[in-house]
Amino acid sequence: MIFDSHTHYDDKRFDDDRDSLLSSLGENGVGRVMSACASMQDIGPILALADRYDFLYASVGVHPHEAEEMRDRDLEILKEAAQHPKVKAIGEIGLDYYYDNSPRDLQRLWFAKQLELAKELDLPVIIHDRDAHGDTMDILRTHHVEQVGGVFHCYAGSVEMAKEILDWGMYIAFGGSLTFKKAVRPAEVAAYVPMNRILLETDCPYLTPEPHRGKRNDSTYLSYVAQRIAEIKGVSTEEIIKITYENANRCFRIAE
Ligand code: NI
Repeated sequence: MIFDSHTHYDDKRFDDDRDSLLSSLGENGVGRVMSACASMQDIGPILALADRYDFLYASVGVHPHEAEEMRDRDLEILKEAAQHPKVKAIGEIGLDYYYDNSPRDLQRLWFAKQLELAKELDLPVIIHDRDAHGDTMDILRTHHVEQVGGVFHCYAGSVEMAKEILDWGMYIAFGGSLTFKKAVRPAEVAAYVPMNRILLETDCPYLTPEPHRGKRNDSTYLSYVAQRIAEIKGVSTEEIIKITYENANRCFRIAE
């Protein structure tokens, strides 16, 4: 069974068929999903999904896009929400210098504060890093991410950077972009990362893999990503699916 380690099923693009889609995941080979939180407004809908579906787990946290909106009392709300038994991570948190939707100093401030929260709660983190490798790594290093671990979502860094992330005991997640024709560097990184540290993720509704690129993404398309990793690693797709399922459970500390 597949473990989709990063989804956004609360997104409005699932409004028309969310329940039928989620109900059919099991029969389509998807065993578990992590629903990643991106804003304070996501918390309620995501926890409602986690209450409704046994196989759906949740993170709580605020994406760098929303950093400018954050206030100190939000940390208290996140802390409270993290007491829910299905909350298994703090995320997605990090830096996004591609869109720069919030000022960079505020992105760094709230990334650091949420990392400290993860340590206080002893929860792993889900990291979002877009065009901000240097600062992301600096903050993770300074705040000792190795104390909680977690996953680099939609990894777009170098092999060199992956080495340090792996030294911290973290996992590296690959999604649809690995199947794109121009994905030379992601393929090099996937070849380098040991099999017991790889996670599968859709980031759905975004980043649909080939050959369905352009359509709305969902967890059932992850088999194409598993197939691509299997090709790179020279093992069977079934083996990749099995190992990444175990990895995700270990990363998020979920009992098998
Ligand atoms: Ni995401």
